[in-house]
Amino acid sequence: MKSLFETYNEYFPIGAAVNTRTIKTHADILKKHFNSITAENEMKPLPTHPLKDKYTFEAGNLIADFARQNNMQLRGHTLVWHNNSPDWFFEGKTKESAISKLQSHIKTVMDNFNYAYCWDVTNEVISDDKESGFLRQTPWLSALGEDYVEIAYRIARNVNKDVKLFYNDYNETNPMKRDRIYDLIKSVNKDKKLIDGFGLQGHWSIYQPDEDEICEAIEKYASLDIELQITELDVSLFRFEDRTKLDFPPQDLLNLQAEKYDNIFKIFRKYKKYITGVTLWGVADDESWLSYFPVKDRKNWPLLFDDNHKEKLAFEKVVEF
Ligand code: XIL
Repeated sequence: MKSLFETYNEYFPIGAAVNTRTIKTHADILKKHFNSITAENEMKPLPTHPLKDKYTFEAGNLIADFARQNNMQLRGHTLVWHNNSPDWFFEGKTKESAISKLQSHIKTVMDNFNYAYCWDVTNEVISDDKESGFLRQTPWLSALGEDYVEIAYRIARNVNKDVKLFYNDYNETNPMKRDRIYDLIKSVNKDKKLIDGFGLQGHWSIYQPDEDEICEAIEKYASLDIELQITELDVSLFRFEDRTKLDFPPQDLLNLQAEKYDNIFKIFRKYKKYITGVTLWGVADDESWLSYFPVKDRKNWPLLFDDNHKEKLAFEKVVEF
């Protein structure tokens, strides 16, 4: 059986999101098929920095060590996010106190995980609908002010000049959101390139987005003269709000999924000059966040390896070209 990452050696590294369990339970697949990893939760603000004067790096360090020991790249994820952030961060009275907390957070976390070659400095800061304004309304925005995104990249750049700094977001092929993300990156980069790359999360499904939309998005982002990575790819068998619950994945849906993966990877190969990494959000179908989000207890099968860690039809399509 072919190795996924070896098959893509001349294209881009192939990554997976892992946690402290899956680096053990899924170690065989990881070592054979992946040459990059991202911590699913362990490097986020709350897990790393639960109290103002307390950092907890044990879980994240296990993941970083796994990457180092197996010669895998490590993507840092993520320093500023509206979810999974501790409340103490926003309790100060002034913008200055919020910035100084952000400064120590970013510096301490980046210094600790100095094996990471890139960081998703900010994650999902653009809102999804016109009514809510351009930037998502979050405690980070209220505490730090309209220019907080740029501030975060300046801090990260000063901490480490060699680490690639990414912006990361979802619904990234939706034309309205795509244009907003484009505008944000363009404005942060106006005087100096602070954002080196954009991470298209790629939480897609067998129904959407269509291939033209993906291509248009890639071309638009590439025109910013930055790197592109697919950072959280999975292909759901369901529409977002569909509440159908199944015990086994129907073969016709798995066939559609294989076709979708086939088409998506064709596009990634076509745009290899812009794409510097493709990461799947999980390793195998037995552990995927889509089996509890957005519909609780709706088992999903969105990845390339099945519940028993066997290669799926989608896997075969991705390695045969
Ligand atoms: C998800 C994790 O997979 C879940 O375990 C956790 O409960 C919530 O976060 N966009 C991101 C990721 O940038 O960090 C999210 O990961 C999925 C959506």
